[in-house]
Amino acid sequence: MQKPIIYSAPMAGITDKPFRLILRKFTNQPIYTEMIGIATLFFNHPQTRKMLQISDEKNLIVQLVGIEEKYMVSAAKEAYFYGAKGIDINMGCPVKKLITNGSGASLMKDTATACRLVEAVKKAVDIPVSVKTRTGWDETSLNVVDFALALETAGADRVTVHGRTKTQGYGGAVNYDLIRKVKEQLKIPVIANGDIVDKSSAISVLAKTKADGLMVGRGLLGKPWLLNEIDDTPFPSFMLSELVLEHLDLMLSYYGLHGLMVARKHLAWYASGFEGKADFCNQVYAEKEVDKVQKIIKDFFNKRISYQKKETI
Ligand SMILES: Cc1cc2nc3c(=O)[nH]c(=O)nc-3n(C[C@H](O)[C@H](O)[C@H](O)COP(=O)(O)O)c2cc1C
Repeated sequence: MQKPIIYSAPMAGITDKPFRLILRKFTNQPIYTEMIGIATLFFNHPQTRKMLQISDEKNLIVQLVGIEEKYMVSAAKEAYFYGAKGIDINMGCPVKKLITNGSGASLMKDTATACRLVEAVKKAVDIPVSVKTRTGWDETSLNVVDFALALETAGADRVTVHGRTKTQGYGGAVNYDLIRKVKEQLKIPVIANGDIVDKSSAISVLAKTKADGLMVGRGLLGKPWLLNEIDDTPFPSFMLSELVLEHLDLMLSYYGLHGLMVARKHLAWYASGFEGKADFCNQVYAEKEVDKVQKIIKDFFNKRISYQKKETI
């Protein structure tokens, strides 16, 4: 059997360029950007525009979020121009700001607009156009099968289903049965997402859903080599302290000094599972000077299991 593709999930505030470059050290699998707002991009908001600095990245899928067809087409064309290998439309985000303007998960309640967006982007670019969605708005409206069928008819090349409703957010049971029903009904590839955190959960989700591929989100936090562990792709040994320092450097180059603040959550994730994590976080959070933070990182990770290693299989 061919190995299923394992996508790293779009995560706002997390799969920024620095984290993607760290992920790319380990995997050749497709990586999603964080969602990029099409309206703010259209009106040249500098931070959003910066998110499209992707020309140097390989196998990248740009995720767009919004509702206006004109902005969606413009954003997709730009992403294509800068080298995106796919465009994904966010039809699952539960954040209030998006819901109130009819985008994100709200599109599950507006199949006609959702399909129009897919059709428009398909016409605009020559790369695959996919959608990431959920099982439905809430338990009383689990409409993902019909919704995904309509998207397929509109021309979508792939659908990823996070097996939770909008109301569930990021907690509660993942409905793998429903992902399987989507897979049974669609001809295009269906990707299963939700609570895949290691090889055994990946095998189990694949067996339950029969999906064509998997998508991993939160499992990657502090563990950017996870995709390799899941699909048995070897990767070279490395010092964890060096990886964390490299990630911090990338954050500083991308965000400037503010990168020190943005990096904090990643530092905490890298420290997860290690004794002394709380103390480490307290020290890092209190420090404003880069070289001191670097020293705290070195001291903390050097004293602990300092590398992850996977031999060639
Ligand atoms: C902090 C955070 C940000 C997220 N941002 C996005 C996003 O920008 N676009 C999107 O489609 N999903 C987003 N998601 C959802 C994830 O892509 C994924 O569907 C969800 O976390 C379930 O997968 P997991 O259990 O592997 O984490 C986000 C999730 C988290 C936790």
